[in-house]
Amino acid sequence: MVENVASEMADLEDEDFYLLSGLEQGMRFSEWVARPKLPEYARLTDEEVDYRLDRCERRDLIERKTIQYEGFRLTFEGYDALALHTFAERETIEGVGAPLGVGKESDVYEVRSYKPLALKFHREGYTEFREVNKEREYTADHEHVSWMYTARKAAEREYETLEALYPTVSVPQPIDHSRHAIIMERIDGVELARSKLEDEQVVPVIDLIFEEMTAAYREGYVHADMSEYNIFIAEDGVTVFDWPQAVPTDHENARELLRRDVENTLGYFQRKYPTQVGEADIDGVVEAVVSDEFARIDEFLD
Ligand SMILES: Nc1ncnc2c1ncn2[C@@H]1O[C@H](COP(=O)(O)OP(=O)(O)O)[C@@H](O)[C@H]1O
Ligand SMILES: [Mg+2]
Repeated sequence: MVENVASEMADLEDEDFYLLSGLEQGMRFSEWVARPKLPEYARLTDEEVDYRLDRCERRDLIERKTIQYEGFRLTFEGYDALALHTFAERETIEGVGAPLGVGKESDVYEVRSYKPLALKFHREGYTEFREVNKEREYTADHEHVSWMYTARKAAEREYETLEALYPTVSVPQPIDHSRHAIIMERIDGVELARSKLEDEQVVPVIDLIFEEMTAAYREGYVHADMSEYNIFIAEDGVTVFDWPQAVPTDHENARELLRRDVENTLGYFQRKYPTQVGEADIDGVVEAVVSDEFARIDEFLD
């Protein structure tokens, strides 16, 4: 889906982006933007609007509906195009490369720049949005809990968290963000879930992960979605990524979420390396992280 957008970027003209950003503005007020409002939002003449609508619709950057009134909205591809355009204008990126990963709620691509970077498009809200809309012909404006808003907020939260944690915690360096997209350092390595550790590496790797969790806590954050899928492992250490749902340590559920992170992380190692990792004192680990006294997982294992 994004590859299409990336390959079409070169064909798009400034006026196409005027139209797309005009629609983006209009969508702050209603999900479907009425055709007569477009010249003003997009700062284009009436004829130009028709021409641009046609071009953008053919490229699936926008959708049209004609129930009640003629309206338009951006598709996710259109929103992607706007974010890519912004990054290109700021010279953050030179081009989009191969997919690096498709997560539960994101698409991640390699991007070309002065060094290898990663581009993450947040998709939160999109799946539910499609479910809701299958049921009916159109969504009443008052319930337009827009996917654009949900995905943009998630990207903002993730970017802010990376900025707060980098470089104290081993997270991808944040580079830039726009709308639902963030640009960050590209991490080499493999997901923990896909790695096979030597027996003697298991405990040291757990120590590294809990050191990062402890450092994040000290900086004021609980990850809240720790799992073997959100940890990269390489020769030179571990990197923890995927931070949009992180909560501040003074959040009322912070402790509970930290406990769950500890359980999920240890649970993975207990299942995969049962001879290395036995029963653990979960509360002891949580307490050590919170009090900044975590040193070695061995102290908490049977
Ligand atoms: N900075 C990065 N460098 C390299 N690959 C990445 C980077 N960020 C994410 N990925 C890849 O994309 C996948 C999805 O990213 P993630 O942040 O976990 O999103 P989700 O919330 O969808 O799980 C990851 O599992 C990983 O393989
Ligand atoms: Mg993930």
